[in-house]
Amino acid sequence: MADENLIKSNKRVKEHGEVFTPKRIVNQMLNQPELVESLNSLSTTFMEPAAGEGAFLTELLRRKLILANKLSTDLKSYEANAEIVLSSLYGIELLEDNVKVLVMRMYNIFSHHYFQAIQKWSGKKNPKVTSSAMTIIEANMRQGDALKKATKDGRSIIFSEWKLLPVRNGVQKVQRIEYTLDAIINDKGPLDESVPSRKVEQLDLFGFDDEVDEEPKKRFKACKLVDIYKEEMEEVTD
Ligand SMILES: C[S@@+](CC[C@H](N)C(=O)[O-])C[C@H]1O[C@@H](n2cnc3c(N)ncnc32)[C@H](O)[C@@H]1O
Repeated sequence: MADENLIKSNKRVKEHGEVFTPKRIVNQMLNQPELVESLNSLSTTFMEPAAGEGAFLTELLRRKLILANKLSTDLKSYEANAEIVLSSLYGIELLEDNVKVLVMRMYNIFSHHYFQAIQKWSGKKNPKVTSSAMTIIEANMRQGDALKKATKDGRSIIFSEWKLLPVRNGVQKVQRIEYTLDAIINDKGPLDESVPSRKVEQLDLFGFDDEVDEEPKKRFKACKLVDIYKEEMEEVTD
């Protein structure tokens, strides 16, 4: 399209290879039969490792939210399905301004489709739904270097898995589990909340661990999809 801004500056193209993909090409790529098939499931996971302003992620979100609308029987089920859709989309982008635009675009698309669903089922906006949506988007769209698997200050890029638990008494709960990008790529386990990176650095520097207090292990509390925004933690006792 003529009015698409695919380049912000020659400097950014040179330094970061920043050239955005035109909508037409995004659609051609997402219309490949294997991808169309994957897009028939709400929870199929996608990751855009040099996400820019989310050329692919925003279109994936739009398509998946249309599917969520089709599969839902009422506003409540749409709200749950739409959060599941969001939790399946991940991105990494190096530049802070792009990440901000990416997060806002994802949120705006979510809100637009939520508004349509509210009208379709003559319902009311639940602010918990939009707050939880923003929590998921911010957790899934990370700023960092996908090659180094690290943030600007050298910390590991951390992603959350949003694991759906078996439905009990009609209630769908989700367990949020954090992993470093390195652990995901190398098939290692989740982050151990008992050893914050600050303490690992301390251990590395001085080599004696008995002077480092162990903090209690914590994990995110399993919660309803609409309560994700609370980000409640609990101590691990088992
Ligand atoms: C060619 S653009 C593509 C953006 C988007 N995927 C699209 O198709 O429109 C590449 C993007 O990757 C980002 N980038 C460059 N090096 C990166 C790295 N090491 N890790 C993460 N993102 C990076 C740039 O800032 C830029 O936004």
